[in-house]
Amino acid sequence: MPDNHFERIADRYDAASADMFLPSVVDPAVEFLAHLAGDGAALELGVGTGRIALPLSARGVPVHGIELSEAMVQQMHAKAGAGAVGVTIGDFATAQVERTFRVVYLVFNTITNLTTQDEQVACFRNAAAHLEPGGCFVVEVSIPDLQRLPPGETVHPFGITSTHFGFEQYDLAAQIAWSHHFWITDGAVETFSTPHRYVWPAELDLMARLTGLSLLERWADWQRTPFTGESRSHVSVWQRPT
Ligand SMILES: C[S@@+](CC[C@H](N)C(=O)[O-])C[C@H]1O[C@@H](n2cnc3c(N)ncnc32)[C@H](O)[C@@H]1O
Repeated sequence: MPDNHFERIADRYDAASADMFLPSVVDPAVEFLAHLAGDGAALELGVGTGRIALPLSARGVPVHGIELSEAMVQQMHAKAGAGAVGVTIGDFATAQVERTFRVVYLVFNTITNLTTQDEQVACFRNAAAHLEPGGCFVVEVSIPDLQRLPPGETVHPFGITSTHFGFEQYDLAAQIAWSHHFWITDGAVETFSTPHRYVWPAELDLMARLTGLSLLERWADWQRTPFTGESRSHVSVWQRPT
């Protein structure tokens, strides 16, 4: 079972990720996923505190989630509408739900929480196994920020304010970026460090192909901005053959 890094910070997750809960961030993702789901159901891998699952469910899409952290799910269960979202506790690379879905989705860089290529391939295989014929697997993930790394450097700061300091520490040989966060609240320092296996779109396409999925579309964001060499993230959709 992978390390459960989010268990310790579940009660602070929504506040620490407040920008990601803004309607300007959530609404386009929900719109995109609802459009793909149509009159079908959706499965979220790493459902967390329900940032996307709850508004998608409120839109009328039946949503189920797989999640490692019971503490994250408890946070979701304290929110309105959570009763409509079924949850399976387990590793989304291997855990099974006894049904198939029109859409399986994995957002907010969560694929990188799987820190080996084998686990990421297993995740694609598991997603494909949960898709109806013609169904789609959607991944939202950043493009690795390696262009910002001067030659010889391994550390890149990504957030510096008076209350938060965040930086990535790259292990280029292992294809791992450790994200380190330091929050200062009332003079006390809280820390959170997680390893991420960063991954390029082409490698994800190969994982999809290994599991019988093919690329349907790739955008820079949920608003369908064209994906280019300047894009800092992507939303990719792979389809199971009909
Ligand atoms: C960055 S959070 C995203 C949560 C939610 N999807 C969102 O968009 O706010 C990643 C979530 O995935 C969960 N997670 C990470 N690795 C997992 C795994 N292998 N299996 C199941 N859940 C996992 C974490 O516990 C956490 O809740």
